[in-house]
Amino acid sequence: MAQENSLSVIRRATCGPLAATPENRCRPDRVGDEPGIRRRGCLRREQETDVVDGLSVLIAGATGFVGSELVRYLGQTRRDVRIRALTRYPESEAARRVAAPATVTLVKGDFADRSSLEAAAAGVDRAYFACNNVADQRRYECDFIDVCREMRVGRLVKLSMLPWFCRPDVRGHGATHYHIARHLHASGMPNVVVQAGYFFQSLFYFARPIREEGILPQLLGDAKPTFVDTRDVAQYAAALLTCSDDMFAAFDGRDVVVVGAEDLGGEDIAAAFGRAGIDVRYERVAPQEFRTGLVCDGVREDVAANITAIHTYLYEGSADVSNQATTSELANLPDVPAQPRRFADFVAEAAAAFSRDQ
Ligand SMILES: NC(=O)c1ccc[n+]([C@@H]2O[C@H](COP(=O)([O-])OP(=O)(O)OC[C@H]3O[C@@H](n4cnc5c(N)ncnc54)[C@H](OP(=O)(O)O)[C@@H]3O)[C@@H](O)[C@H]2O)c1
Repeated sequence: MAQENSLSVIRRATCGPLAATPENRCRPDRVGDEPGIRRRGCLRREQETDVVDGLSVLIAGATGFVGSELVRYLGQTRRDVRIRALTRYPESEAARRVAAPATVTLVKGDFADRSSLEAAAAGVDRAYFACNNVADQRRYECDFIDVCREMRVGRLVKLSMLPWFCRPDVRGHGATHYHIARHLHASGMPNVVVQAGYFFQSLFYFARPIREEGILPQLLGDAKPTFVDTRDVAQYAAALLTCSDDMFAAFDGRDVVVVGAEDLGGEDIAAAFGRAGIDVRYERVAPQEFRTGLVCDGVREDVAANITAIHTYLYEGSADVSNQATTSELANLPDVPAQPRRFADFVAEAAAAFSRDQ
């Protein structure tokens, strides 16, 4: 169920029903003062709600950890938003699950195929994008930005990682995110980068060894990164994607941080599993072993290399990724989580994937 902060409750209370009274009759969000700019979604009593009705949004990375939750959240809470969910494999089980809400249309497309992106972005008001950490991620996401600019998409929300990693001299996909963010910020389009903490759901990468061997083979060393639930990241992304232009102005061109409330090391994670009745031991592995393990469990070679490169900073203890905080102004957005989800709750909900007995 959607969580609401007190501000959004007040906003909803003042908003009242959405019938077409003179006050909440639609007016253009962006009227075409430039030739070719379409009339876009309609503002609903903006001063009170900061919510835009009738948007069309493109979600690229729709079957991913965050994208799938973003589609689900918007599908459940915003019946007025038309969602185009981009995937290379519309026939896949993951895509079919994503397409469950009636407001979702699956769109076949590939970051490597610009014409498919043009077709996907045609007529879209706003877009979210997240590619996994393949070797071509920088080219793919920069192409996506360029296509969205050509197709006059009105706002872009990019998923990235914690600020420490997003530097040109960081090995692996940290530098990739840095360069994509620079490209985005220089694009001239309204944009924001969401720098998310370590996902709880990343532990699904280790579901098999946890379930079958009772070990969590992680490359964390003594590091305790600030974790986050992907459903919380999705909820913030939804707010940034669908809020009014006036409300978005405070975030335009910025990098914002979204994290949970817990810093978790390998021992903490194992202990939380133990409290949920899942016996698991944290095993500190070295980089090469970690990489081989990921590949054995089905992760692509290039993705495994990037993930290992990033984790090596954690293993060496050189990354500043503890005590991270969510950007405070994000609390002003409508319908953002009142409290971050807790790791113990995630483990309880996802126990079947990790437990030998279930
Ligand atoms: N894991 C973490 O802890 C963490 C933390 C912070 C940030 N991040 C960042 O999160 C991003 C990944 O997001 P995620 O975890 O939500 O996604 P994900 O679970 O890694 O899934 C990848 C998504 O990318 C899509 N994709 C891959 N190649 C594609 C292509 N050539 N054309 C079109 N779509 C393509 C896939 O769609 P189809 O397969 O359906 O086509 C899928 O939806 C990465 O950039 C990573 O750095 C991760």
